[in-house]
Amino acid sequence: MVDMETLKIRLKNTNETLKLGEIIGKSLNPGSIIALVGDLGAGKTVLVKGIAKGLGVDEEPNSPTFVIMNQYEGRIPLYHFDLYRVSSEEELFGIGYDEFFFGEGVAAVEWADRVQNVFPEHTIKIEIKIPEPSSEDSETIRDISIEGTSKWLLSFKNTAEQAFQT
Ligand SMILES: Nc1ncnc2c1ncn2[C@@H]1O[C@H](COP(=O)(O)OP(=O)(O)O)[C@@H](O)[C@H]1O
Ligand SMILES: [Mg+2]
Repeated sequence: MVDMETLKIRLKNTNETLKLGEIIGKSLNPGSIIALVGDLGAGKTVLVKGIAKGLGVDEEPNSPTFVIMNQYEGRIPLYHFDLYRVSSEEELFGIGYDEFFFGEGVAAVEWADRVQNVFPEHTIKIEIKIPEPSSEDSETIRDISIEGTSKWLLSFKNTAEQAFQT
């Protein structure tokens, strides 16, 4: 069993999500896998844009509507999956996903909850929730939950906690 921990962060706006993504991106290693979960419009793709920046990718990822995966060159290659239209593991097997999940790059997977049993134990799980709006709250608040190995979480926790109030 890998030792996992969870960090919760409340973000105020899109810029903070980009910033969090960048901090995460800088802390990743070859072989890192990120499973992203959250409703449509939660900010998964925004977070991936930040992650890409942190990985030294020059391009800005967008939602890969017609393909399951887009690939970007950076300090470490980024494989950006969007499983919105995927309903079974079979479709992932069909594109040889394991080469990207278990290779030398970083895999960031939107709609990770669409598939079961393809993620290894060390997967970083990020859930983005739009909180129930109360009158004085802004519509751009997001509650983020980040689960990862204790070792990995430590490597960026301090930076993240300084950047945002947790
Ligand atoms: N705190 C926030 N973080 C991320 N996106 C936000 C935030 N507040 C508002 N937004 C808006 O919500 C939308 C999120 O879109 P996107 O990242 O494509 O969502 P998803 O990929 O989860 O479907 C964007 O239009 C963005 O501007
Ligand atoms: Mg998206």
